[in-house]
Amino acid sequence: MADNFENKAKEWDNKSVRVQNAHSIAHAIKEKIELNKNMHIMDFGVGTGLLGFEVLKDVKSMDGVDTSEAMLEKLEEKNTETSFIKPICQDIVKKPLDTKYDGIISSMTLHHVEHLDDFFKTIKTNLNENGFIAIADLASEDGTFHSDNTGVHHFGFDEKELETIIRNCGFTDIAFKHIHTINKPHRDFDIFLVTAKA
Ligand SMILES: C[S@@+](CC[C@H](N)C(=O)[O-])C[C@H]1O[C@@H](n2cnc3c(N)ncnc32)[C@H](O)[C@@H]1O
Repeated sequence: MADNFENKAKEWDNKSVRVQNAHSIAHAIKEKIELNKNMHIMDFGVGTGLLGFEVLKDVKSMDGVDTSEAMLEKLEEKNTETSFIKPICQDIVKKPLDTKYDGIISSMTLHHVEHLDDFFKTIKTNLNENGFIAIADLASEDGTFHSDNTGVHHFGFDEKELETIIRNCGFTDIAFKHIHTINKPHRDFDIFLVTAKA
């Protein structure tokens, strides 16, 4: 599988827009979900851990799933004894994990997932009863968010369409919230957080 993030990994954390976006997403997740120190969480598309390390402060442990070895190498550089995300380099839709989590978080990764039904059905099997998902991504956009759309399978998401997919995969209590806006020189891009229960 091609690593579309190989050339981006090194400089990933140097862009303040990304750091700020991850910070806003972490804040929105903590506002919506009652995290606690018994929870084992998965960050899907963890990348270098911009979101994961912030949420890790409020939970017991975290696995970081990603298909990019380069991004996970950067994550591992940031790991310490007291703040550690376990890297898992795997396409979990093609090769599901058998671990159960109390919650699955994700930032800016869903638009890279081609088959959404397969993805939501898979992650439901990885959640404990009443486990949660908290997934942040772009609202529908015109295809100009990325300068190169290689590996981008969705130009953001229509709330109603995504809600239907998530509900049909067996999730309940589905809620959307607009949580942040990324300002680019040519236009603004809205970021939403969708939460649901398994
Ligand atoms: C836009 S980056 C976001 C990284 C991080 N969540 C953040 O907010 O900084 C998307 C990440 O998702 C990963 N990714 C793309 N497709 C994936 C898949 N099918 N399974 C797991 N990770 C994937 C990429 O390798 C990349 O690290």
